[in-house]
Amino acid sequence: MKIMHVDASAKRERSNSRALSRYFLERLREERVNLEVDYLDVAVDTPPHVTEAFAIATYTPAHERTAAMKATLAASDALCERLLAADALVFAMPMYNWSMPSAFKAYIDSVTRTGLTYVHSEDGRTAGQLVRQKVLFITSRGADLRAGSPYESMDALTPALTAAFGFLGVARPTFVDAQPLQFANPAARAEALERARAELAEVAVNWAKQVQATPHVLAVDRDNQVMTLCQE
Ligand SMILES: Cc1cc2nc3c(=O)[nH]c(=O)nc-3n(C[C@H](O)[C@H](O)[C@H](O)COP(=O)(O)O)c2cc1C
Repeated sequence: MKIMHVDASAKRERSNSRALSRYFLERLREERVNLEVDYLDVAVDTPPHVTEAFAIATYTPAHERTAAMKATLAASDALCERLLAADALVFAMPMYNWSMPSAFKAYIDSVTRTGLTYVHSEDGRTAGQLVRQKVLFITSRGADLRAGSPYESMDALTPALTAAFGFLGVARPTFVDAQPLQFANPAARAEALERARAELAEVAVNWAKQVQATPHVLAVDRDNQVMTLCQE
């Protein structure tokens, strides 16, 4: 299974979201899922902010684009290709000021591309192209924003991610939210991490089951023997 794994925390070794995304990939391997990982750290390789040149080029029909426009879009084209090539997407990020890190927003601005990750149909609708990918969002939060908490209404992260990727065709993303990881006592933080790890282990088991249920890709070799090429 080809996984696009994206981290977005400004923190490195001490990052909880990075640790949790690594943990999830380890669980998948433990479930014997054969992984091909395409890794992107948007805190390091941050896609550029939208510029005027990008805004014009992206809405210019592909066959009308100048060489300069194509060059402007090249990095975004490449990010879209990586996304479309993946079978599964794992996005890990902290909550910053109730929403996503700006580096991840820049990533969304780069991969939301007409003609690539979504297309216009003749009836004027749009159709997102990320329909076959399994998608997991791992978020880490300092406060507790679960239902019933005083911060519940402040969660602008979950709806923003759901909307941005829903537009790209992701109908049922999975969320594992580790909270509270900062504005709480040590026991509550430890419990939050433990809860997140348990949920991730469960998602890994489910993904593994789905992958293992996918028929093997068969091919016939030169001696007419059927052979298994690979599994998703
Ligand atoms: C700049 C900044 C803004 C933050 N804003 C919020 C916030 O709005 N709500 C919240 O619950 N936690 C907030 N936090 C706390 C982080 O979400 C939390 O510590 C999280 O675990 C960090 O994830 P990481 O360890 O992967 O970096 C903020 C942290 C930073 C550094």
